[in-house]
Amino acid sequence: MTGKFITLEGIDGAGKSTHHAWLVAELQRRGKTVVQTREPGGTPLGEKLRELLLHEPMHLETEALLMFAARREHLAQVIEPALARGDWVVCDRFTDASYAYQGGGRGLAWEKLEALEHWVHPHLAPDLTLLFDVPLEVAQARMAAAAREADRFEREQAAFHARVRAAYHVRAAAEPARMRVIDGGRTLDQVKKQLEEIITSVCS
Ligand code: TYD
Repeated sequence: MTGKFITLEGIDGAGKSTHHAWLVAELQRRGKTVVQTREPGGTPLGEKLRELLLHEPMHLETEALLMFAARREHLAQVIEPALARGDWVVCDRFTDASYAYQGGGRGLAWEKLEALEHWVHPHLAPDLTLLFDVPLEVAQARMAAAAREADRFEREQAAFHARVRAAYHVRAAAEPARMRVIDGGRTLDQVKKQLEEIITSVCS
């Protein structure tokens, strides 16, 4: 029995966090042992780096390097051991987010991100990536309604989030078998139905 590596992506406010817990519960209901984790973060060191990444101003290359530093630790401590045990890993954001945010959003050259990706995880890619996609206005309205204080990424202009979304679309178009686009603008029940179909196809 081998586990699978599933990642969740989308612009801030796209609703991926809402569906994360449900997805994990659904996999467990189907008898899978699931490790639920997130990036940046997922380890004690990674969570410290997350604090810096979300709140401390920094050069865009520093930001990219710290994202991948946190990822290196996360792979070594959590993701690789879990997959080696045959567990399923559901991770809130992974390397697609670096391409979307540091590449698309901030304008870092994709070649630099490719170099980091090849350094940090040359042989590992998600088996399935769920890209939660909503129009910018919907995402921004959801963020505005959220009670907690916005982080450094959430505070960015609409144009930044539009570039992030466009970069996600480029990646989804390049790898349609791995990246499944979920229209997150529909009702929760409609989204769950689509997720259920996708999960059934990966579980069989
Ligand atoms: P997010 O996943 O949206 O968490 P929450 O739901 O708690 O707000 O926050 C993580 C932020 O980090 C998000 O704005 C995107 C950003 N990020 C990057 O810019 N690059 C990356 O490689 C990763 C993993 C995240």
